[in-house]
Amino acid sequence: MGARILVTGATGQVGQTVVDVLRRRGHTVVAATRTPGGAGAALSGVRLVRFDYDDPSSFAPALRGIERVFLVVRPGDDEADGTAIPFLEDAARAGVRHCVLLSAMGIDRLPGTALRRIERWLETSAMAWTFLRPNFFFQIFTRDALGAGIREAAEIRVPAGDAALSFIDVRDIAEVAGEALASEAHAGRAYTLTGPAPVTHGEVAETIGRQTGRAVRYVAAGDEEAALALAAAGFPAARITRLLGFYRLVRAGACAPVSGDVEAVLGRSPIGLEEFVRDHLQVWVPIGTPFAVSSTVAPLLARVPDGSDDLRRCR
Ligand SMILES: NC(=O)c1ccc[n+]([C@@H]2O[C@H](COP(=O)([O-])OP(=O)(O)OC[C@H]3O[C@@H](n4cnc5c(N)ncnc54)[C@H](OP(=O)(O)O)[C@@H]3O)[C@@H](O)[C@H]2O)c1
Repeated sequence: MGARILVTGATGQVGQTVVDVLRRRGHTVVAATRTPGGAGAALSGVRLVRFDYDDPSSFAPALRGIERVFLVVRPGDDEADGTAIPFLEDAARAGVRHCVLLSAMGIDRLPGTALRRIERWLETSAMAWTFLRPNFFFQIFTRDALGAGIREAAEIRVPAGDAALSFIDVRDIAEVAGEALASEAHAGRAYTLTGPAPVTHGEVAETIGRQTGRAVRYVAAGDEEAALALAAAGFPAARITRLLGFYRLVRAGACAPVSGDVEAVLGRSPIGLEEFVRDHLQVWVPIGTPFAVSSTVAPLLARVPDGSDDLRRCR
């Protein structure tokens, strides 16, 4: 039996995949969620614990008996260190030995960000740490507005210009997390997690179109258009500014570099664009349309894992 590990953000796309990896490896997993009886119900076979960054009284009970923590900060929160650091202080007091932090690519060059402040706190603490710094996830194309845009309008519309990004598959992040949480061997290491090659949004659109048998186009949106679309989707102003800032970095080429860290940790190449698309085809089928893709692709579907999780998340 492996270590007793608390996974925060356990109902999210990364956390849920980390839970699956850890369970397969025989660890005792405790899955943290604000709603153990709600969203947490999707996580069968693990102990669920109520955990809310906005309720510090939930920290100590969640940390009882825990040796290692997979830390996902509160999403979309520019001040996430304000809740994550008090949680880490409680974790240290509770005897947690190792924290594996889901950070972000390039954060070491952004000292004013919440994630970097959390990294710095860990660097000076007595707790062992491992930082996972992923690039944009491939899975952004499966959910929220991007997933719906492909499914309903056969279109990807973001302000990325013609820049390439070395997108990472969430499953690879989870596999690296599984390694990092298994022992102290990865303590004190920061891993930049990217896919095997930089690809443009045009290439993503072309690949999804080819594999699903319908034309999908990429439209390079302007900042103003993107801001209006995000506002219409209900994003708060601060989040919009933050997202547009990310895309400015994208257009400057900051997300194109390829790292060898996934291969160094896992001993295999990271998942690339073709494989990611092949494994998520059902997500892009318009609602109400029978799932019929091109005859070239159809035989591959026999090998595709059940896409119901992705459907549930994005619909
Ligand atoms: N998307 C990308 O391309 C990208 C790239 C690099 C890094 N990242 C990083 O990845 C992280 C997002 O991971 P994800 O996509 O797995 O997130 P996600 O699918 O949006 O899930 C968010 C998780 O946060 C939990 N949560 C929300 N509010 C909470 C609160 N107040 N207290 C405790 N838990 C709370 C939710 O759990 P419950 O609702 O069950 O409580 C849920 O499990 C972010 O930190 C981001 O910086 C993302």
